This record gives sequence, structure tokens and C-alpha cells, in this order.
Amino acid sequence: MSTRTPRIQLILGSTREGRAGEQVAQWFAHLAAERDDVEIELVDLREFPLPFFDSPVSPKRRIGDDPRIQAWAAKVAEADGYIFVTPEYNYGYPAVLKNALDHLYYQWNDKPVGFVGYGGIAGGIRAVQQLRQVVVELGLAQVRTQVLIPKVFTAFGDDGQPVDAMHATTASALLDEVADWARMLQVKRNADASVDELATASA
Ligand SMILES: Cc1cc2nc3c(=O)[nH]c(=O)nc-3n(C[C@H](O)[C@H](O)[C@H](O)COP(=O)(O)O)c2cc1C
Repeated sequence: MSTRTPRIQLILGSTREGRAGEQVAQWFAHLAAERDDVEIELVDLREFPLPFFDSPVSPKRRIGDDPRIQAWAAKVAEADGYIFVTPEYNYGYPAVLKNALDHLYYQWNDKPVGFVGYGGIAGGIRAVQQLRQVVVELGLAQVRTQVLIPKVFTAFGDDGQPVDAMHATTASALLDEVADWARMLQVKRNADASVDELATASA
């Protein structure tokens, strides 16, 4: 079965008014759009307002009927991989991002994820470390390289580019890894689907 150019969603994890994350995500999205080995889509959680997760059953069994959850599931299912753009709030990542993760399960499975963190002095590293612990349970395959942007308030020039040129180099390396894994895991998901089809046909 053939594979397609990996569709990578850049999920912006801050919905706060006046968020710095918008600049970070716009910069990264433009950088990724220059490549021809991925199709990048910026997914803004503001456009997917979700109820607070309170389902009586795990999303491993069934996701909620609420049309907002269904719309979120349909969007996440479209992608072959993800990059989470996360600020650091009190040494962690935002609750709105955890809520968006918890609502789904199978939609995340067997796809790669990379991280772009930003914040104060630590550049979002504690938020990214926490996310690394969480994504394993969602069946996401995390890549090693991560972009960390300290002092985000002064990290970008008037041209929208990071003052520190190293961030673009790291971002390219991160995209290389996510693109590679997205291609490989597409093969795996296609193979799994073929085995399921054969099993159903012979049942
Ligand atoms: C509630 C809150 C807690 C924060 N805690 C931290 C923190 O623990 N470490 C850090 O480096 N920055 C912290 N910051 C600074 C944020 O990382 C910074 O304001 C960043 O711009 C937030 O992302 P956003 O503007 O896209 O929402 C905190 C900001 C807020 C609003």
C-alpha cells in the first residue's frame, strides 16, 4: 500500500488571550511549510473548544457523543504526526492541552510526536518533560530533538524570526525526525489495517 506525504499537525497548546504561543506557532508553521516532505497544518485549540473531560468510560472504549469531541476526533484522525507547541505554566503544560489529549485515544496511536516548548528562563523544558511522560500512554512515538525557547517575550524580532538562529536549525532537525517517523509509522498502520481486513474477511 502506498504512503502519502505525511500530514503533520502543529497543535498550539495555549488558548490564553494575548498568548505568546501564536508567534511561536506561526514561525514554526512557516518554516515547515517551506519543506516538501511534510504537509503542515496549524491546529489552534481555540478553534476546538472542548468540554472538561468527564466521560464515564475511557476513550479507549468510546469517545464522547458531544459534537465538539467528535469534531476534535475527526481533526486529530486526519494527521500522520504531531508537533505540540507548549508553554510552561507552573512547571507544567497547560490544562487545556491535557484535556484535548485525554478526550481521545485511538486517533493518537502509532503516530510520532515532537515538541516545541517556550516560556521563561527554562524555555518550557519542564512542560515538555511532563508531556513526554503522558504521550507514551496514548501510543504516540516521541522523537528526541526538541525546540526550547527561553524568555519568549524577547525571543522574536520584529520580522517574526527568532533572535537566536539556533532555533531554526533545531526546528529543522525536529521536522526531519517527525517526517521520518511519520513515514515509517504510516507503513505500520497500513500493514495493521491490512491484517485486520484479512482477519475480518476470513472470519
Ligand atoms: C499561570 C502561569 C504560570 C507560569 N509558570 C511558568 C513557569 O513555571 N515557568 C516558566 O518558565 N514560565 C512560566 N510562565 C510564563 C509563561 O511561560 C509565559 O507567560 C508564556 O508566554 C505563556 O505562554 P502563552 O503566552 O502562549 O500562554 C507562566 C505563565 C503563566 C500565565
